[in-house]
Formats: sequence, structure tokens, C-alpha cells
Amino acid sequence: MDISERVRDIARSNESPFVVMDLDIVEDNYDQLIKDISGVRVFYAVKANSHPKIIKRLYDLGSSFDVASRGEIEMLLNMGIPGSRLSFGNTIKKEEDIRFAFNKGINYFAADAEMELEKIARNAPGAQVYLRLAMNGSDSDWPLSRKFGTNIDHVKKLVVYANDLGLAPIGVSFHVGSQCYDKYSWKDALMQVADIFWFAKLEGIKMTTINLGGGIPVKYVRDIPTVAEIANVINESIDEYFNFTERPTLFIEPGRSMVGNAGILVSRVLLRSSKEKKDWVYIDAGVYHGLMETIENLRYTVVVDGKDDHPKKTFTLAGPTCDSIDVVYDEVELPEDVTLGDIVYFVNAGAYTLDYKTHFNGIEGPYALFLDEVTVRSTHETNVADS
Ligand SMILES: Cc1ncc(COP(=O)(O)O)c(C=O)c1O
Repeated sequence: MDISERVRDIARSNESPFVVMDLDIVEDNYDQLIKDISGVRVFYAVKANSHPKIIKRLYDLGSSFDVASRGEIEMLLNMGIPGSRLSFGNTIKKEEDIRFAFNKGINYFAADAEMELEKIARNAPGAQVYLRLAMNGSDSDWPLSRKFGTNIDHVKKLVVYANDLGLAPIGVSFHVGSQCYDKYSWKDALMQVADIFWFAKLEGIKMTTINLGGGIPVKYVRDIPTVAEIANVINESIDEYFNFTERPTLFIEPGRSMVGNAGILVSRVLLRSSKEKKDWVYIDAGVYHGLMETIENLRYTVVVDGKDDHPKKTFTLAGPTCDSIDVVYDEVELPEDVTLGDIVYFVNAGAYTLDYKTHFNGIEGPYALFLDEVTVRSTHETNVADS
């Protein structure tokens, strides 16, 4: 999303921090994905940005949803979205939440451990499960390795165990790591999934579904593979590795790539100071207030309003809390004359910002504004269009 004149006007006339979102870009992202990956069913990963306006637009477009918790499930059900459009993709679930989900018509559950399968079998008898394969996430900014998924041999054991428990092990899921730069990560994963499908076939268990997870990147600073390039790798890998069975059903759980480029985070400078040979800039967003992903050094393009072409120097950029972890970047290039009240934009920050905030120190995190309904108001007047 460009920092257009309209975005700049909105930034200048609304209290910061906030994320300004463009729903038409979300729609374009959705359309492109279903065009490029043949027959894929999209389960938008709600955690990336759970704002009801985004959920509503995607639902109207035909999307289903990957949910992580009862909280997300209830939110979507309350919006009138049926359980049949949801998949409970968290591999770590409360028993009572599994039961709740099953009773509400949710029939897809993820698991990567025997105990999780036992919980599902007790509370959602006969449900469809997909087993999560671990990926190393090596060329991604947010790897999601280690904690999630398990190795291929263990997945095979889980397939048999799920079947023994009376569940329907319909498929395998994986996540190549969020913000993945290597399109061949999907090929690597699909090769392993084919091996698991083949094993299941020999065991007399029919697996039909591949959940491609998330991981499609957004353009921040580094070059990324396009959606079309990733889709090509996926389509070709399916043709190459799954010729021993009928074409699998494909699910995908995009989060970042649905909303990341549809938002700009707007913040303001609260303080500038020099100490111990370092120049510091403090803003009203930070690690606890919308910019959590920067702790893994996810690099946004940072722009200071009206000073785009001024000479730059290196600053340390920090958030507003009384906590020393709240440093966004140890080193970032900003205009050398950046000062109190300047507006600082974080470009393509529509994902993992509005939902990644706390009330730490009693400070409110960024709220959402939508381009289609915001009216430009006088500075520091709260915009009520966001609900
Ligand atoms: C199970 C699952 N699916 C999908 C996603 C979305 O991933 P991304 O934002 O990289 O598209 C996540 C992100 O954490 C996830 O945990």
C-alpha cells in the first residue's frame, strides 16, 4: 500500500498510533491466490488481523477461516459465520474448547502429538484431523519451527494412531515459516507429504487433503518470490509427487499475505535524545504496541512524513513504555532532522500489528481505520469510524 496523499491527510488529522487499512487490497490478495493455486480453499488465518471488517469482506468473498482459540471461534460465530467454514488449526487446544468447537459444527482439527489426538477423539469423536509436519523455517523471518509440527516418521505414527482412535486422518498440514523467502520450501514440504500419503495408502488409510499453511511473504525490505511463483512451485509439485493418487484437496491458511500490504501503521515521535554517542527517537507505537514482530528483526520500510528526501543518519528507534525490551530497531536510517511530533509510517504493516498489542503501562495500542469510511478530521480528534 502506498503512502498516498489521502493516507498522509488521514495521518495528519487523526490521533496516533493507528493502522490505516484498505479492504480492496485484501480482496485483490484473495482473488489472486484462488486464481493462481488451482482449486485451493482459503482458510484466512484470523490471528494475522482479526478486525471484523476484514473477516466480513473475506467471508463475503467465499473464504473459510483458520482459528486458533475459542475467542476467535466465538467472534466469527457471533458474526453469523457457520462452524462449517472454520478449521481449528492450533495444535495446542483446551479439551472444553475442542468440544465447544465440535458442537458448533467445526470438523477440522490440527494435531502433532498423541495426547492432542486423544483429546480430539474424546471431545470430537470421528472428527477430521490433519497432522502437522514440522518444517525448519530456515529462510523465513518468523520460523514457527521447533514448537509446532513433528518429523515425518512421527507424523506417520500419528496417522495410524488417529485412525485407531476412530478419527478421520484426512491429511497433513505444514507451515514453511511466516514471511518465507524461499519458494522451494513448499516443494520440500510437499515431497514429504507425498511420502506420508503413500505410507497411509499402504496402511489402507485414505488421505485426501493437504493444508499448505501460511508463509507467503509480503514485500517489506528484502526481495520476495511472488504469489504466482510460489503457486507455480505448488502446482508443479502436486503434479510431480501425487501421481499415485487422485489430485489432493488443497487448503491454504494465509495470514500475512492477505492483509500485510493492505495496511500502514502510523505513529508519532514523542521524544528525540542523544546519549552515549547514540541518537534515539521514541515513538508512540512499539514492541508492546503493534510492532512486536520487530523483535525478530522483521524489517519494515520506515518513512517520516514530509522528510522523505532529507539526508539520513542512523538512530535507535524505541517505543513509549518504561521497558528496555521496547526497542523497535537498534539501528535504522531516519531523516537527520526528525523531531517531536513528526509522523512515522511503517509500510505494509497490516498483519500482526493490530492483534499484537497490549495495554502494558496503560498505553493503548494502535486502532484500525479503514480508507473506505474514514473522514479526515482535525488533529488529535479520535476517529469514531473504527468500531
Ligand atoms: C496454523 C497457522 N496457519 C497459518 C498461519 C498464518 O501464517 P502467515 O501469516 O505466515 O501466512 C499461522 C501463523 O502463525 C499459523 O499458526
